[in-house]
Amino acid sequence: MSCVYVDSLKDRIVPDELRGRLMSPEEAAALIRPRMVLGFSGFASAGYPKLIPQAIAARGEAVGLTVLAGASTGPELDGELAKAGLIACRAPFQSEKALRNDINRGAVSYCDIHLSQMPKYLREETFGRIDFAIIECVMIDAEGGIVPTTTLGAVDTIVKMADSVMLEINTSFPTELKGIHDIYTGGPGEVIPITGILDRVGSPTVHCPLEKIKAVVINETPGLAANFQAGNDVSDRIAGNIIEFLKEEVKRPHYHGKLPPLQSGLGNVANAVLYGLRDSGFKHLTMFTEVVQDTAFELIREGIIDGASTTSLSLSAESRDELFANLDYYKERIVIRQQDVSNNPELIQRFGVIGMNTAIEADIYGNVNSTHIMGSGTMNGVGGSCDFARNAGLTIFMTPATAKGGNISCIVPMVSHVDSTEHDVHVLVTEYGLADLRGKSPCERAELIIEKCCAPEYRQALRSYFEHAKSVAPAQHTPHDLSQALSWHVRCLKTGSMHSGE
Ligand code: COA
Repeated sequence: MSCVYVDSLKDRIVPDELRGRLMSPEEAAALIRPRMVLGFSGFASAGYPKLIPQAIAARGEAVGLTVLAGASTGPELDGELAKAGLIACRAPFQSEKALRNDINRGAVSYCDIHLSQMPKYLREETFGRIDFAIIECVMIDAEGGIVPTTTLGAVDTIVKMADSVMLEINTSFPTELKGIHDIYTGGPGEVIPITGILDRVGSPTVHCPLEKIKAVVINETPGLAANFQAGNDVSDRIAGNIIEFLKEEVKRPHYHGKLPPLQSGLGNVANAVLYGLRDSGFKHLTMFTEVVQDTAFELIREGIIDGASTTSLSLSAESRDELFANLDYYKERIVIRQQDVSNNPELIQRFGVIGMNTAIEADIYGNVNSTHIMGSGTMNGVGGSCDFARNAGLTIFMTPATAKGGNISCIVPMVSHVDSTEHDVHVLVTEYGLADLRGKSPCERAELIIEKCCAPEYRQALRSYFEHAKSVAPAQHTPHDLSQALSWHVRCLKTGSMHSGE
């Protein structure tokens, strides 16, 4: 490295002793051996290192890796390592196509974990000791304080638990990001002292003993930004149904005229719901969530959302520029926490959060499948959906009523896999309507879901199944005919469609 280059990094690598550990991604990758356990930064496809994993993939020697992170990373990490055939085990969440294919053909062992619990798993060394933490960051200060980029995830725990650390310093993020994070991880039995969603109770940096840092790599490019598709008619109609519901819901006395903090899952439907809030007349909203995407960010900019607690900002290039241009404004309104705090069940309950997540399918009794296609293949993983669904004051699940051009009904007699049970699903929404399931028995829920949520072309068949189940079931609490409950899925696997052709 030339002296001039090293000098220009003085504000990024403050401890003198670390400048001697500056190296190329290829030199850093050479330190990774087969069958190592690697802990990466990254959550919601943001905040993950890019150059080092690509160099590990290109080198191609480190087979049998255990790859751990906060949640999903992106193509330069999960994608490249999977394509190189280097991943043996992955946890706790993924969303990359190449990796998903490897998991579904049985080549990668995938452990799909509630995101609030990942730091605990790491502390307990469930996946073994972490050989290397590989962390994207903005800088490291004189005291060994690492400033992460716009995502924290499980970085604090990963760094603590790792034998050695590599830093990928991304110079496209301004050093002024220091102060947006609140690094606090409560131990077992500790009451987390957060009573307001913007409370700061920890440190602005992740502490790392300097002797653990074996490599520092510089990345001058921001990498891929989040890419959002425009909403469509279906997502807009789902959003409209939720907004109308919330307008009525907020009138109930226990809300005192104000919605509690919102959590919104990933994806375009979730984005459309937040977009719908813009013109809904709601003001002074807050979020207690695990990811802030573009729409929520825009609402913060416009002053409709007063503040957000999250573990990840997953933003488009435009929103990232806006964040960097007005950091003081956003630092007063956004706190980035570790995922065991952002998704903490006790805090979710304390704040009475309204949790809004997307389902792959739901059944007539309100059970939700968020993760599996036709009972066997994983899509992404459960993510934080159950952290919120189980503990929120109000849990909403949404899904388009059909998938694959109408060949699949997302409202089925029985889900082919269960992630959130009927006990945790308060409201189910599709583009056709909203079923408020609170206080209803299973049979009352079935009536509502068939009537309000099912696509019209599947409604008669679903009603026939329900009537038939009642006539043959051995008990009437949750009537099923077990010989037919999954027949819609079986038909789809055989013919490509759930339509019976009758
Ligand atoms: N049967 C079969 N396939 C289905 C289906 C069903 N019932 N419902 C959806 N799909 C398919 C879609 O056709 C699409 O397939 P494609 O990728 O081949 O086009 C895919 O599943 C994703 O569906 P899409 O409508 O694009 O949904 P999305 O991007 O809004 O994602 C989830 C929906 C459920 C996959 C996603 O929200 C998720 O992974 N959730 C679990 C984690 C979570 O909730 N985290 C929230 C906390 S942040």
